[in-house]
Amino acid sequence: MPQRRIRSCPVTDANRSIHRSIHQYSELDSTQNEARRLLKAGRATEGHVVLAERQTAGRGRFGRLWVSPKGGFYATFVLPKMTIPSIRVGLVLHDALERLGLTTQLKWPNDLLVGEKKLGGILVEEARGLFLAGVGVNLSMAPLPMTTSASQSGTSISVLDLLGKMLGSLTQESDEEVLGAYRSCCATIGRIVRIERSLSEPALEGLAVGVSGKGLLMVEAEGSVHSIAGGECFHLRTPDSKDR
Ligand code: BTN
Repeated sequence: MPQRRIRSCPVTDANRSIHRSIHQYSELDSTQNEARRLLKAGRATEGHVVLAERQTAGRGRFGRLWVSPKGGFYATFVLPKMTIPSIRVGLVLHDALERLGLTTQLKWPNDLLVGEKKLGGILVEEARGLFLAGVGVNLSMAPLPMTTSASQSGTSISVLDLLGKMLGSLTQESDEEVLGAYRSCCATIGRIVRIERSLSEPALEGLAVGVSGKGLLMVEAEGSVHSIAGGECFHLRTPDSKDR
């Protein structure tokens, strides 16, 4: 359940002069859950952002827990329905960090990596005809093995800096423009990958050869190219290297 609510205030985005409301908390179970509660109560709508300093039940993809102590960025952006939402938000996050001095890459569809380690992730859910784009980034701590943080890369980034840069980047570009930019920072293309789709389907291993115009991962395996719409992607190796 929500803890103390710090403030809800309109924010002016310097680039686009869009007024948004930020619902900011010291602690929440999950910013996704709070966004749903606010939408249900009629207290949030498109353009609002829910922000927490820490989460007690942060949610990741595939029903996993997102460990969320203080020192991370935990936000849910309430967005209108759009095409390729997870690719768009992933790119916005990547670009925002780049402008704050931190170079990252995206593992398809939208895990944020520094080298082989995970810096952040995105969870897109639907609620009441809108998208809830939940963004988690490790800023000054890395909570688990195989994760990293901005500070471990020598970059100090504050929650409000990152929020400001993201709000300034949520634009209306075409799918083609978004995907062009996405492909150039997608670490998955050119890697040997394993895709785990569901428990009932065998995993697929092959070479990731591209991302289609609909945001699907194209994997060459067993003599044909497979279009992957969902599931978990693991980077195994580059074609000319040994397994990592
Ligand atoms: C992933 O599994 O990679 C996605 C992680 C998404 C975590 C963020 S933190 C803010 C928002 N609230 C949540 O409960 N989850 C998302």
